[in-house]
Amino acid sequence: MCGIIGYAGGGRNQEVLDVLLTGLSGLEYRGYDSAGIALADEAVSVYKREGELENLEALLKETDVPSTPVGIGHTRWSTHGPPSDRNAHPHTDDGATVAVVHNGIIENYERLREELSELGCTFESDTDTEVVPHLIRHYVDEGLDEEGAFRKAVSKLEGSYAIAAVFRGSETIYATRQDSPLVLGLGEGGNYLASDVPAFIQYTDRVIYLEDGQFAVLTDDEITVTDGDGQVLEPPVKRIEWDAEDAGKSGYDHYMLKEINEQPRSLRQCLRGRVDELEGDVTTEELDELPEPARVQFVACGTSYHAALYGELTLRERGVKAQTFMASEYDRASVPIDDETLVIGVTQSGETADTLRALRQAERAGATTLAVTNVVGSSASRECDYTMYIRAGPEIGVAATKTFASQQTALTLLADAIRDAEHRELLGALRDLPDHVQSILDGSNAREIAAEYENAGAYFFIGRGYNYPVALEGALKMKEITYKHAEGFAAGELKHGPLALVTEETPIFAVVTGDDERATKTIGNVKEVEARGAPVVAVTDGQSDVERYADHVLSVPETHDRVGPILANVQLQLVSYWLANRLDRSIDKPRNLAKSVTVE
Ligand code: G6P
Repeated sequence: MCGIIGYAGGGRNQEVLDVLLTGLSGLEYRGYDSAGIALADEAVSVYKREGELENLEALLKETDVPSTPVGIGHTRWSTHGPPSDRNAHPHTDDGATVAVVHNGIIENYERLREELSELGCTFESDTDTEVVPHLIRHYVDEGLDEEGAFRKAVSKLEGSYAIAAVFRGSETIYATRQDSPLVLGLGEGGNYLASDVPAFIQYTDRVIYLEDGQFAVLTDDEITVTDGDGQVLEPPVKRIEWDAEDAGKSGYDHYMLKEINEQPRSLRQCLRGRVDELEGDVTTEELDELPEPARVQFVACGTSYHAALYGELTLRERGVKAQTFMASEYDRASVPIDDETLVIGVTQSGETADTLRALRQAERAGATTLAVTNVVGSSASRECDYTMYIRAGPEIGVAATKTFASQQTALTLLADAIRDAEHRELLGALRDLPDHVQSILDGSNAREIAAEYENAGAYFFIGRGYNYPVALEGALKMKEITYKHAEGFAAGELKHGPLALVTEETPIFAVVTGDDERATKTIGNVKEVEARGAPVVAVTDGQSDVERYADHVLSVPETHDRVGPILANVQLQLVSYWLANRLDRSIDKPRNLAKSVTVE
């Protein structure tokens, strides 16, 4: 998946270039294998470079770039063809009469490429995208006007795409989408399009979310949206409730650290208006009509999958039959899905292709679908029967942090909408959660622990019950941003194999909150690793005596057993962050990863 930006600005000045570069920097989290822009006027000028945006900026600095009324840009996460200047977008036809940027995968590109090659088109790249400008040109040569040629070319494509195109000698951008996000921004004196709002939030907060199969035509003073038949539509204009400041780094070195530190605020937002501790009530109006299901299935990927595992436990505890599936494996799950099934897609972005596919499968089978997402207007929220927003605010760092805590919290509240339980104590703990997170942020020794274990061979994370997903997430964070080998295990599973990996070189992060039987058993597992010489870091609220067996302690405040794991995770986020920082890793944009994966 990639990031797309487009701007029709009218005036012939620096503006278009500035908007495109600002937009690309707001989209780099979607991919950073290469970046490129196309500026259209009497000619279409394309500039692109492998690597992060700064490489493109360096190229532009030493080039005499024309001022144009319109332009498009792209930041790439490679699917077809390795990262290179050649494979970077935009792509053009022979003679550069049209330039195209694309996010997604064109599944029938090989056949189209063969047909177009036979017609004499020359291909410069390994990408699937390059067929699109050639196809558009082909229909222009056949006599269609710009829009007609664009529409006809798109009608030949199979797969997923958000596409934007500009033409030589034209001040218009043409765009469409199918299973990949595209949002339009209505500005004063210029109009925008992008894969995501942070790309243009500093210019406008009025947006239109394009739907699958719709087309948009942008000029400096007009946006026209049409359906597949060319019928003009009047899509709703929405206002974005956060601003450029929220999407910036606010003085932090990295978005990730900023977002870890934002958790007290994002958790307050998640809880606001939803918890009435005095009455012992949870209010989730958006779920008022939700029918009580016979069974619940969670579908999710990555960090969201770990949050879903946590959500599953909260439901099971209330006697609801719940299961969690990696979204990419759901089609092979062979589980009953019917009109008594509630399928919950947990997805920060609301655009993850694997999760959307699983939700669509559920919908076809007659299930009720519910999106738990952070992004208003995302595909998941538009397609599902119900949506619960986690309200974490924009998350730019590729490694998910604040959204995980908000997902855990939202799923705790969601459990109530599915089946009531006596939970006055839990609600009190949720009320205190933002302050408890703040106290961890203020007093954490995670930085010292990261320094202590900087040179370890591998890092293992163990936990039981609600702390098991936290162990998995702790290890995922560590892998993603430090590139160190890290694994998370159910604490009891360690002795069934992974223990063979445990040595003096492998610190074990043991997540132990509460002092119930699970805590006692995890302490037993801690002793097993200690006996093999492994250093132990206990993440604990001090209720059990795990500290006695640990070399180091990461403390969290004592709270409800459902909420302790949310706190423990914050300490683990900080350890990964500070270790990656010491290793000088690309923390906000780890190698090979992207935040929003819109391909399967
Ligand atoms: C990508 C990101 C992960 C994220 C996963 C699911 O792989 O790198 O950090 O957890 O997608 O994303 P979602 O938006 O569905 O939560």
